[in-house]
Amino acid sequence: MKKYGWAVGLFIFVIVAAVGAVAIPNPLSAQILTEAKYRGYLPYTTDEAITLAYQRCTTCHPADKMLKYCSRCGPPFIVVSQSMKKYTELMNEKGGNFKPFSDAETVAITQVWNGLVGNWEPDWGTKDIKKLLQGDQALIRLAETPVAQRPIEVALKNKQAPGSHKEDRKTVP
Ligand code: HEC
Repeated sequence: MKKYGWAVGLFIFVIVAAVGAVAIPNPLSAQILTEAKYRGYLPYTTDEAITLAYQRCTTCHPADKMLKYCSRCGPPFIVVSQSMKKYTELMNEKGGNFKPFSDAETVAITQVWNGLVGNWEPDWGTKDIKKLLQGDQALIRLAETPVAQRPIEVALKNKQAPGSHKEDRKTVP
């Protein structure tokens, strides 16, 4: 057995090297993909958007804030997303250390809460919403996009977040 010690060693070395060659680029490419999506070069899948919405919107308060939010509570999620993005920037200016929300993120996340909790944009009207969006071009573009052309929101049309009371509005097509 001892005679083949070097061969076993070499064999193990080759295996480790092979696994390493496969394993090392993976986290790297995952990181590049994540960044590309954050910047809007690649779209978020629906599942990624859901994970993102739960992760990014629960750093300051629990998910209940979104799940219990309703049409009587205030403006639609598209406006909430914009104010949370602004609030995060404000906190960072005051020395906070929050990851800023990118345009791609707020557009994807808005669609998730719209789809899983409710979209009452029609109650408010695009014109008023646009005013409330304070010049946020990415969200204004989303406000002007019919729901039927918002891929993530469409995919979640018949889903509901556990713990929410989904408001099933007849959203304008
Ligand atoms: C940097 C911290 C922070 C982040 C990140 C954040 N929020 Fe908030 N959010 C707050 C604060 C502060 C309030 C208001 C105080 C409170 O009610 O706790 C609030 C309140 C809310 C409310 C209740 C508003 C109302 O009128 O009752 C909703 C809905 C909400 N957030 C949704 C979101 C969504 C969606 C995201 C992700 C896009 C998000 N939040 C991310 C800090 C944050």
